[in-house]
Amino acid sequence: MKTTGNTILVTGGGSGIGRELAREFHALGNTVIVAGRTASSLEETIAGRDGMHARTLDVSDAADISRFAKALIADFPALNVLFNNAGIMVKEDWLADPVDLSVTEATVTTNILGPIRLTAALLPHLRAQPLARVVNVTSGLAYVPLAHAPAYSASKAALHAWTQSLRYQLRDTNVEVIELAPPGVRTGITPGQETRESYMPLEDFVAETMESFRIEDTPAEVCVQRAKMLRAAEASGNFDQIFKGLNDGYEG
Ligand SMILES: NC(=O)c1ccc[n+]([C@@H]2O[C@H](COP(=O)([O-])OP(=O)(O)OC[C@H]3O[C@@H](n4cnc5c(N)ncnc54)[C@H](OP(=O)(O)O)[C@@H]3O)[C@@H](O)[C@H]2O)c1
Repeated sequence: MKTTGNTILVTGGGSGIGRELAREFHALGNTVIVAGRTASSLEETIAGRDGMHARTLDVSDAADISRFAKALIADFPALNVLFNNAGIMVKEDWLADPVDLSVTEATVTTNILGPIRLTAALLPHLRAQPLARVVNVTSGLAYVPLAHAPAYSASKAALHAWTQSLRYQLRDTNVEVIELAPPGVRTGITPGQETRESYMPLEDFVAETMESFRIEDTPAEVCVQRAKMLRAAEASGNFDQIFKGLNDGYEG
C-alpha cells in the first residue's frame, strides 16, 4: 500500500499491536489518529510525536461510534485508512453453572459489532477519498479456535468472513479491504502474555507485518510466517492435529 501521506485511524492504538503499528506508520510520514477507551494510554502512544493524535472511543457502544465518526471526519477530512484493531480476549468457562455470558456478549459487541459499526460509519467518507483502505485485525485463532476462548475465536472467524464479503462488495471501488491475522504475540491482551516465551515478540511481529504493508500491492491477507500454519490448517489436512496441539499445550 502507499505508505506515506495517508491519514490513518488505528483503534486500540493505546497499547500492543495497535500502538506499535500506529507509531510505525507515523514514522513513515502519515498522519495517525489512535483511538481507545483509555485517554492516558493513548497520550502515551503519541507523546512527543507531531502528527499523531489521540481520540477516546468505545467501540462496544454504537452511539459513541456515531459521535466519534462525525467528529473524526470533521477534524481529519483527509482520513483514508481505517485499522479496526481494538479487541478483547477473555477466557470463558462453559463448565460453570450457570454459564456467565457477560464475557461472551462483550466479546461479540467489541470484536464483531465494533469493527462493523465503525466501518459502516466511516465508509461513505472513505469512498469519497482518492484511495482508501480498511484493515481488519483478526487472528490465527479465526482458523483454528482456542477452546479456552470460544467467543474470542468465533469473533475472529466472523470478522474474517465479514472481511471477505466486504472485500468482494467493494472490489470495484477505491476501497481496498485487507485482513491482518496475527499469531500469538507478546502483548497485554491476556494476563501473562507479554512475557510468554512461546509467543512472538511484538517488535518482530510489527517488523514482519510492516514488510507486507510496504509492498505496493499489499496482500489481501497479511499473515506473518508464524500465523501461516494456522491459516492453512484446514486446507493442509492438519486441522485436527493442530487444534489438539494448540489447545492441549495452552499455557494461559
Ligand atoms: N496479541 C495477540 O496474540 C493477538 C493475536 C491475534 C490477534 N490479536 C488482535 O490484535 C488486536 C490488538 O490486540 P493486542 O494484542 O495489541 O492487545 P492489547 O494491547 O490489549 O490491545 C487491544 C486494544 O484495544 C482497545 N480496546 C479494547 N476494547 C475496546 C473498546 N471497547 N473500545 C475501544 N478500544 C478498545 C484497548 O484499549 P482500552 O482498553 O484502553 O480501550 C487496547 O488498546 C486485537 O484485535 C486482538 O484480538 C492479538
